[in-house]
Amino acid sequence: MPESITITDNRTGQTLEIPIDNGGISATAWSKLLPGVWFYDPGFMFTASCESSISYLDGEAGILRYRGYPIEQLAERSTYLEVAYLLLFGELPTADQYDAWQHDVTHHTFIHENVRKRFLEGFHYDAHPMGMLVSAVAALSTFYPEAKDITDAASWNKQVLRLIAKMPTLAAAAHRFSVGMPFVYPDNSLDFAANFLSMMWKTAEPRFEADPVLARALDVLFILHADHEQNCSTTALRVVGSSHADPYSAVSAAAAALYGPRHGGANEAVIRMLVEVGSLENVPAFVESVKEGNGRLQGFGHRVYKSYDPRAKIIKETADRVFEVVGKNPLLDIALALEEIALSDEYFTSRRLYPNVDFYSGLIYQAMGFPLEMFPVLFAIPRTVGWLAHWQELLAQDVKISRPRQLYIGADQRDYVTIGQRG
Ligand code: CMC
Repeated sequence: MPESITITDNRTGQTLEIPIDNGGISATAWSKLLPGVWFYDPGFMFTASCESSISYLDGEAGILRYRGYPIEQLAERSTYLEVAYLLLFGELPTADQYDAWQHDVTHHTFIHENVRKRFLEGFHYDAHPMGMLVSAVAALSTFYPEAKDITDAASWNKQVLRLIAKMPTLAAAAHRFSVGMPFVYPDNSLDFAANFLSMMWKTAEPRFEADPVLARALDVLFILHADHEQNCSTTALRVVGSSHADPYSAVSAAAAALYGPRHGGANEAVIRMLVEVGSLENVPAFVESVKEGNGRLQGFGHRVYKSYDPRAKIIKETADRVFEVVGKNPLLDIALALEEIALSDEYFTSRRLYPNVDFYSGLIYQAMGFPLEMFPVLFAIPRTVGWLAHWQELLAQDVKISRPRQLYIGADQRDYVTIGQRG
């Protein structure tokens, strides 16, 4: 029996059979049956905007898989570059494919000298690195004008490679500029995460040797942040990509969406919140004030997860390994106390608010020495591959341009009045 619902249109008395396919109702089918009736769904709470085979997410059960592989297995056994290949091409690479992929990404890490000299160095001395990154990615489209031809497969692959490879270079350059340190060129003998750490922290030493535990922890964080189906920034990417803008402009729009404190800015907000709480004895009063409606418990709650975010579990374990190397973040105890109280409080349990990916990631980044302003940038580096996987998918599906309807609630027609006769 095919699934369907039957509804009666009380305006006409007509009974309509609406088919349900894969858990959803096709808007095309709906519009034929009920022309001129729109779904009003601000925030896309109940709207699937596309078909996708990249990430699978079950928010009730706390499950996340990339291309079918559980996030726990990938975080334990894979690398960010391997996961990037998986997300983009749909399968884990063979050894030869992985070698070629790693070589290609490594050899596209340099940025054009004018991106740095004329563009990045033109920012105000205290520019926020995420603002710089968003602009720099958009600016890349002017350096690679062939990117506009989205029908050319060779060019398409080249832009994807460039974006993945250059993101850490741009990110580190933005940081170095914002703290008045000289730019560090990529070191092609290092792997992805270690190279990024070198570009971030190298000073006068001939070669920067990242602590392998920290480089691996960062790689795991990159894996965990690589994709997350139709989140706010990926939706922004799909909307912009649907107009056939070049991939740099589309990724820049996605990065802008990630900048907001409700999305990629949340880990920064968590640290600011923990600093504001200040000490363990203030935790109960802080939780009470959140319950009274004064702000939110940052790093808690999620539109889709209604149980513990599986990424948060892995990050908590990763944090322990990082703290063994760099020492415990003094804010950890406050975070643990907040979590304990919130998880046993009816306000949070009844709303099914659990720690999300951002609750502990900021503590790791801070313990590793990253300034707060870099937190959304650290999210943008790996999420670039998710955005690009969705960009490729939407072009392959030849999707229509995104153009929702609205329910107009403004004034009826009225006549223009000259300025002196108003008021
Ligand atoms: N602290 C306190 N109350 C909360 C929180 C929170 N963090 N999150 C949601 N609520 C309450 C909210 O007040 C509302 O209560 P009521 O029903 O009484 O009005 C109820 O829970 C539902 O909240 P909502 O805003 O309708 O839920 P949403 O799905 O629109 O928002 C969210 C999801 C992530 C924006 C929200 O939970 C939030 O603002 N969390 C804090 C910011 C944060 O950690 N963001 C990172 C998200 S994960 C990383 C990413 O994907 O970027």
